[in-house]
Amino acid sequence: MGPGDLRKVLHLLPPGEVREEILVGLDTPDDAAVFRLDGERALIHTLDFFTPIVDDPYLFGQIAAANALSDIFAMGGNPVSAMNIVCFPCSLGMDILAEILRGGMEKVREAGAVLLGGHTVDDDEPKYGLAVTGLIHPDRVMTCLGARDGDSLVLTKPLGTGILATALKGDFISEEDMAEAIRGMAALNREASRAALEAGAHACTDVTGFGFLGHLLNMLPEEGLGCVVHASSLPLYPLTREMASMGMIPAGAYRNRDFVEEWVEWSPEVEDTDRMILLDPQTSGGLLVALSPQGLQVFSGLLKEGREWSRVGEFVSSPRRSIMVEP
Ligand code: CO
Ligand code: CO
Ligand code: CO
Repeated sequence: MGPGDLRKVLHLLPPGEVREEILVGLDTPDDAAVFRLDGERALIHTLDFFTPIVDDPYLFGQIAAANALSDIFAMGGNPVSAMNIVCFPCSLGMDILAEILRGGMEKVREAGAVLLGGHTVDDDEPKYGLAVTGLIHPDRVMTCLGARDGDSLVLTKPLGTGILATALKGDFISEEDMAEAIRGMAALNREASRAALEAGAHACTDVTGFGFLGHLLNMLPEEGLGCVVHASSLPLYPLTREMASMGMIPAGAYRNRDFVEEWVEWSPEVEDTDRMILLDPQTSGGLLVALSPQGLQVFSGLLKEGREWSRVGEFVSSPRRSIMVEP
């Protein structure tokens, strides 16, 4: 569902319950919820599932699991346990389902968590994902909000997975052509999360369905802060620009554009293709991190610039919530 529709539904509901244990709940744009147990521990809850984005069932399982675990890492938490969410047409064959689950299970183990069970529904179209529970110190939760004027904006994985998946579905590229993107989607955000925590990040979120700009918008409060983005500094998976210029743009990118439009000022020099890449819905994307100048130094001592992260913009004071996209 696009961000606009989701917002409409949430407005139809009564406001979320107010309890002092709820550190992050329904009222914030964060994807995961945080519930304090005591002075030392809080639970993080999140879940995510979707239809196959690649043909290989094992890789799909890995990607879906990495994606579901990501919201725990975006908050700086440690995943503890996970449950499978499975929709599957029995006619496809149980060996395929077993491969999906094996991929997911191995990824959960790699993340240091345990898979405890799950639930399966017969459905025409396969879908897979996880509900994940994590632990975090209640005083060390990173959320979307908290960036300050002068902070750098850092991104820890390239963009382009929605565009490449669209091209793959249309047989314009093969799974081998998008090997780097598949590796990227299956990679955990764990190291980036630890580096962000250690660097004292002011804010952190992960890039998924709302695209780079949609998730960046979630990092900006109603007023007082803007962000300048340098489009040419954004890391892209191979073939992303080629496929985007051929029109391989997923419908979600247009939904994301409608949602962010009001707050985005495009420099006329930023081409349409690049605009759509910034709006492309991502699967298991990287972390977006707001870092002070000192924080950026610590971060760059922990992870390799260029390979593991790129500085893609900076936060600036602005009367109005706004994203300025420069070439
Ligand atoms: Co999510
Ligand atoms: Co998220
Ligand atoms: Co059940």
